[in-house]
Amino acid sequence: MPQDTEYRQIQARDDALTILRALLNAPDAFVSGSILAEQLGMSRPAIHGKLEKLREQGFEVDAVRNKGYHLVKEPEVLHSDLIRYYTEKSGTAMDVLYYPVIDSTNSEAERQLSHRRKAPFAIASSCQTKGRGRLGRDWHSATADNLYLSVVFEPNIPPQALQHFTLWAGIHICRALQTFVPKAPLKIKWPNDLHCDGRKFAGMLTEAKMDADSLRSIVFGIGLNVNSNPSKYPKEIKKTATSLYAVGGEGLPLNQVAARVIEAIQAAYDTCILGSGSESLIEAWTPLSSLSGQVVTAIMNGKEITGSASGIDETGALILTASDGTVQKVRAGDVTLRK
Ligand code: BTN
Repeated sequence: MPQDTEYRQIQARDDALTILRALLNAPDAFVSGSILAEQLGMSRPAIHGKLEKLREQGFEVDAVRNKGYHLVKEPEVLHSDLIRYYTEKSGTAMDVLYYPVIDSTNSEAERQLSHRRKAPFAIASSCQTKGRGRLGRDWHSATADNLYLSVVFEPNIPPQALQHFTLWAGIHICRALQTFVPKAPLKIKWPNDLHCDGRKFAGMLTEAKMDADSLRSIVFGIGLNVNSNPSKYPKEIKKTATSLYAVGGEGLPLNQVAARVIEAIQAAYDTCILGSGSESLIEAWTPLSSLSGQVVTAIMNGKEITGSASGIDETGALILTASDGTVQKVRAGDVTLRK
């Protein structure tokens, strides 16, 4: 097992960020090299050098004599400065630590907490070597086209508040992502999966530490298939998984997606843990449920139960109505669609 110090964190750099802010804030204009030089207290050749570095990192920047610089294209992979730019723009005040490769963003979040990093903060990565899913499963995390993200909070409130957190996160994330793929109906498969047309494009894993009467930390992890091509997925998931690119028909700006997801997770925290907003969980959940009216099977106390899913109750349990009219509530675990 590699030591945490072996993972390379790429930090947002102030100079590069200042240049990027200027370029991104002027999408239809040229940014003068001499103004940048003055802002940063650098020579024109030094600015030229910084722009060269950005080009090496996948930014496409036009340079025109007597006009300046213009950003034509962002890199397609995660970039620490871009995540920072877009999270700042959305008003989310949270440090985002970016690792090109990590074992698991949830594990790194735990390590950061044990090194006393103060929450909230987020860990983002382009590749996980030990990505984990629910119920001891692995999470396929080899492609940099996707997002592997953990967001950490230290709420210090009674543990019961956690009960709804993943459900609220699913609701806010689903709504945020829907704006990127307006024609593809994004849904939540109770309790922790995001689906489109019957295929999973994201999974959520919430891990928490509690004392007897207080929730100490929440590590909320999400694996989101953004721009990957499902035809290249491993055969175990090829038939059941998809990506936003596949359902929406075009590639998405990965760094903007990452920032919107972070913003959505913060909004879920505000709603669920801090109690902001007036919408009820049932009201918010119902239109997004992929299971409503579907016959599903769940395992409860070692016993298989089958019924038609009609929604959730106020505790977040899934309500199943069997063919004889008996109503049962599933509080944890997974459900599968009855073929
Ligand atoms: C599931 O559907 O089983 C949940 C998958 C959660 C995967 C994410 S990827 C980022 C974070 N780090 C992990 O190791 N797991 C979660």
